[in-house]
Amino acid sequence: MWLQQILLLSGLVTLCFSLDNGLARTPPMGWLTWTRFSCNTNCEQDPDYCISEKLVMQMADHMAMDGYKEAGYEYVCLDDCWLAAERDVFHQLQPDRKRFPHGMKYLADYVHSKGLKLGIYEDFGTKTCAGFPGSEFYMELDAKTFAEWGIDLLKFDTCHSDARENKYGYPAMSMYLNQTNRKILYSCEWPYGELQLNASIQTDYSAVRTSCNTWRNFWDVSDDFNSVKSIVGFYGKNNALFQKYSGPGGFFDPDQVLVGGFGMSHYQQRAQMAMWAMFSAPLIMSNDLRSIPAEAKQLLLNKYIISVDQDPLGTMATKLWEFNGLQLWVKPIVPTGSLAIAFFNSNNYGSGTPLVSVASDLGMADARGYQVTEVFEGTDLGTLKPDSKLSIRVNPDDVYMIICKILS
Ligand SMILES: *[C@@H]1O[C@H](CO)[C@@H](O)[C@H](O)[C@H]1NC(C)=O
Ligand SMILES: *[C@@H]1O[C@H](CO)[C@@H](O)[C@H](O)[C@H]1NC(C)=O
Repeated sequence: MWLQQILLLSGLVTLCFSLDNGLARTPPMGWLTWTRFSCNTNCEQDPDYCISEKLVMQMADHMAMDGYKEAGYEYVCLDDCWLAAERDVFHQLQPDRKRFPHGMKYLADYVHSKGLKLGIYEDFGTKTCAGFPGSEFYMELDAKTFAEWGIDLLKFDTCHSDARENKYGYPAMSMYLNQTNRKILYSCEWPYGELQLNASIQTDYSAVRTSCNTWRNFWDVSDDFNSVKSIVGFYGKNNALFQKYSGPGGFFDPDQVLVGGFGMSHYQQRAQMAMWAMFSAPLIMSNDLRSIPAEAKQLLLNKYIISVDQDPLGTMATKLWEFNGLQLWVKPIVPTGSLAIAFFNSNNYGSGTPLVSVASDLGMADARGYQVTEVFEGTDLGTLKPDSKLSIRVNPDDVYMIICKILS
């Protein structure tokens, strides 16, 4: 009974105010340069992999052509290292002229012509993380500049700033974005800056949610399953707190989805994708869409996982238990009473963990029963009643995930 109550409660939490710009009603989906292309500015020697308008245009082409746009991926985003070394004589930001010869307005127009949106990066501090001009003292001008260029998303980083000021600086930028009258999705690193103060400040997530559409609150993800496990661990540890602040208009951002990368096995990649969907996290991939393995592409386009991520309730899953490295996460989805269930196995030995569960112990307690589908293969597992048994095996470093739709 307690289990049913937890799930019911988490589905009915009355959220505090979200940023009132009409954006991020479900978690944003898109692509970002950072993990895959980092701060490669060497276009002379590495023309196909450097941060440039050509790279962004090619990714936009692939997002539009290869089914990503139809699946919901919408924002094509630049991270650090797009800027020129200095502001112009009017103090306005300017892109590096060699790598962005046509300027940002041209690039935004191009991305828009593909039916997509353009994201850009700046920093609350005096410099960006890579040392380019930061927005401190210029936030109003920079917000105007981004709006004039036709930017649709701003990732606002927290390097070279005093993170104790984040609670003033991030809301100020939010206000300046609002004053432009252009709808710009606001992706904040405010809590991440405060995390680096080592608990000398407790993040006020209610305030963050009022100013930001998405917010990073942990270290950067890297193309390595240990990194993914540490993020899942952090979200598990703070589950009860974070759940209160996730919902339409504002979402926790555990960082980029690295499906299609080099450092994780296919199973590890699908575990990341599944857990991000359970969290209602932004699905912002960082990979090379020009040369992505078929298996990775299929995973990124998996309609079941995307539907869980994009569920209109926007709830963060509840972590029900962890035992010997195996975790059970359950997320309420529509129609009311339905659930997504994920077993996350952080063990990497042997042939996995076999498990027999009674459906009601997984949250399936409604006597009407559930239509159950496994998400990776799309296998129909038939109907389960509360006293039915579910027999599964969770592979090492993998997830077993099902969608359980309530029967009427
Ligand atoms: C600015 O804020 C007001 C009040 O919260 C809101 O109604 C409006 O839609 C916002 N505009 C933009 C462009 O975000
Ligand atoms: C926080 O802790 C890390 C690691 O222990 C350390 O490198 C960093 O300097 C600390 N930051 C502050 C602001 O004390």
